[in-house]
Amino acid sequence: MSLEQAIRDKTACVGVAGLGYVGLPLIRAFAAAGYRTMGFDVDQTKVDALLAGQSYIKHIPAQWIQSCIAEGKFTPTADMRRLREADAILICVPTPLNDSRDPDLSYIEATTQQIAAVLRPGQLIVLESTTYPGTTRDVVFPILNARGLKLGTDYFLAYSPEREDPGNPDFAASAIPKVVGGMEPESLRLAQELYSRAVVRVVPVSNCEVAEACKILENTYRAVNIALVNELKMLYDRMGIDVWEVIDAAKTKPFGYQAFYPGPGLGGHCIPIDPFYLSWLARKEGMATRFIELAGEINTRMPDYVVERVVLALNERSRAIRGSRILLLGIAYKKDVDDARESPSFELLRRLQGLGAEVTYNDPHVPKLPRTRHHEFPPQSSQPLTAEYLASQDCVLIATDHSAYDFEFVVQHAPLIIDTRNATRAVKQGREKIRKA
Ligand SMILES: NC(=O)c1ccc[n+]([C@@H]2O[C@H](COP(=O)([O-])OP(=O)(O)OC[C@H]3O[C@@H](n4cnc5c(N)ncnc54)[C@H](O)[C@@H]3O)[C@@H](O)[C@H]2O)c1
Repeated sequence: MSLEQAIRDKTACVGVAGLGYVGLPLIRAFAAAGYRTMGFDVDQTKVDALLAGQSYIKHIPAQWIQSCIAEGKFTPTADMRRLREADAILICVPTPLNDSRDPDLSYIEATTQQIAAVLRPGQLIVLESTTYPGTTRDVVFPILNARGLKLGTDYFLAYSPEREDPGNPDFAASAIPKVVGGMEPESLRLAQELYSRAVVRVVPVSNCEVAEACKILENTYRAVNIALVNELKMLYDRMGIDVWEVIDAAKTKPFGYQAFYPGPGLGGHCIPIDPFYLSWLARKEGMATRFIELAGEINTRMPDYVVERVVLALNERSRAIRGSRILLLGIAYKKDVDDARESPSFELLRRLQGLGAEVTYNDPHVPKLPRTRHHEFPPQSSQPLTAEYLASQDCVLIATDHSAYDFEFVVQHAPLIIDTRNATRAVKQGREKIRKA
């Protein structure tokens, strides 16, 4: 049976390589659409957790994993030879920066090698990892092509950027339109056929490069606009103007303005990283991406600004930062997620500890302080958020505004609160103890 027919009558098996924050929700979207799915990950612990019916991503319910596996709709495996069984393979592996902040495509290359080793006629491969324009054509295609099969007749290759917004209950993977570019017309057509069965809308574009560039534009747009409000926050603060009130007023304009919010710095796997994939490419083209560099500069400076605010606020109370007890609220990089990758909280922790503060943390979604590629802290667990613990601190620093926090309670019991998210805006009592940062 042709791949097209199998996609249409839902007998096609959809494989996802990389079962992380992106891959697992994607499996869910295809399983919900009625497809049999296979999940591939080199991390055996993830595969074992799934096989045991456990979820390692907060917003993916264990119950769903258990029933999907039991009904044969989802097969997790670390055996990459089984990639051959999938009719479509969607690649969702990490795309980090290396130590010199250049793109690290080693995960994409490794997965593509694994696929190439078992590639057979009738398979559609789609790269979903965020990357610079040209990756599908210049990196993925040559590896697959070396297998000797013919693109467009034997196998098919496309790029479709993932737009997952973890923690956003309004937009599951299936509710987000999907941009798709193909290496040639047949690849595009089949990728469209596939995605249109699982997501709300498919947006075809001329080629893989447009789809790759589209994703980088979206993330750069966020990075630049966040940098803009972060810079304005510092300026407006000096002028005695509350930037959050300004943004709330500005967003009443019904056109031409989209609200972005300041914070303690940029976090997550995407916004602090993806734009630099483009900068790297621009350098190769002999051009500069000044917006990206400037946004990066401002956003990475934010933890310094926040620490400065903590120092000043303690100083007002005749306290030195050295020896002060500081409770950091939130290790996750954003509200209501358990993902701490690139979180500015680590930088806050590092800087405050470096100044001699005794820093502990609370995060209902991050029970143990994770190790990161850039930081190595002594092991630490999330502290219980009791009235006594709050009262025993010199300062509580709000880095993430999780919905689980009762900020009324925090302000009631903590002696001093530094709020980087305007999380305490609705708190009425004890406002004299709050400093925004
Ligand atoms: N997290 C997000 O919100 C988000 C949103 C949009 C796009 N993206 C992009 O999606 C991609 C994946 O991000 P993520 O957040 O899901 O990463 P993740 O780290 O959560 O998951 C990636 C998974 O891939 C696995 N993996 C690594 N090498 C592999 C291989 N050779 N074969 C099979 N599996 C392998 C890892 O073990 C890991 O489980 C990245 O390019 C990222 O930029 C992420």
